[in-house]
Amino acid sequence: MATSLDHYAVVGHPVSHSLSPRIHRHFAAQTQQALDYSAIELPEDGFDDGVRGLQQRGFRGLNVTVPFKREAWELCDCLSDRARDAGAVNTLSFDDNGDIAGDNTDGIGLIRDLTINLQLNLESRRILILGAGGAVRGVLGPLLERSPLSITLANRTPAKAESLATDFAGRGRLEVREFAALDETPFDLVINGTAAGIRGEVPPVPGTAIGSDSVCYDMMYNIETNTAFVDWALDQGAARAHDGLGMLVEQAAAAFAIWRRISPETAEVIRQLRRS
Ligand code: ATR
Repeated sequence: MATSLDHYAVVGHPVSHSLSPRIHRHFAAQTQQALDYSAIELPEDGFDDGVRGLQQRGFRGLNVTVPFKREAWELCDCLSDRARDAGAVNTLSFDDNGDIAGDNTDGIGLIRDLTINLQLNLESRRILILGAGGAVRGVLGPLLERSPLSITLANRTPAKAESLATDFAGRGRLEVREFAALDETPFDLVINGTAAGIRGEVPPVPGTAIGSDSVCYDMMYNIETNTAFVDWALDQGAARAHDGLGMLVEQAAAAFAIWRRISPETAEVIRQLRRS
């Protein structure tokens, strides 16, 4: 490429609505890094060829979003421990020798949003996680590392939650429950990792799982209005309910730090996105 800028992009299908280009351009301006970041849609059956094509064109790294995170995991020459745990990759780095390194910054993004931006202490807390798909697998390791008292997994298809619990056995107190069996003591933190919100739905959690001290967190976000889960949680009387915009910005900041060896400030970027 006839330019001195380093090139990065987010690849997905579809990807045109991604906020990642805006976020990374904020970071680049703030840290005075000479880079360009775009959104590139790859054909659903053309992930590997697309990535190798961008590598050949001189791109230095890519973020990977739906539906390619698993394929990215399979494509990499080497994986970080957290990417190996997650079974998915959201950050690719192209080494000078042509190797592709994979990392997953979703889990650390969630942890930073919860503990730094939202000032939550996770240690010794009872955490409920809704869902058992790729999004939940990606954050389970980093959450368990924070030594919660317990993590309860509830999923529409219980067998998938059981399988996740088996994969992370021995890493902390993990238990699986059916939604209907979540009706006793309210949880300290309830994280929605399901895709139900895409259709404006909320998983069938008994309202008694939420108490006046419960904090609720939706891994999905919506910058214009509350997500369905945030509205539902507030209706149940939760102390606070947050969407996942902070997690999105934090996972981007962690990817930026992998590529550029400099950690951008995130709070102002989150504020600007909310205002826009
Ligand atoms: P992702 O990679 O985003 O996690 P996924 O692997 O397809 O996507 O997982 C989606 C998750 O949302 C699953 O836990 C799914 O439940 P099932 O395992 O039973 O499919 C959950 N989900 C999707 N729509 C839902 C809904 N309307 N109510 C409750 N859970 C839902």
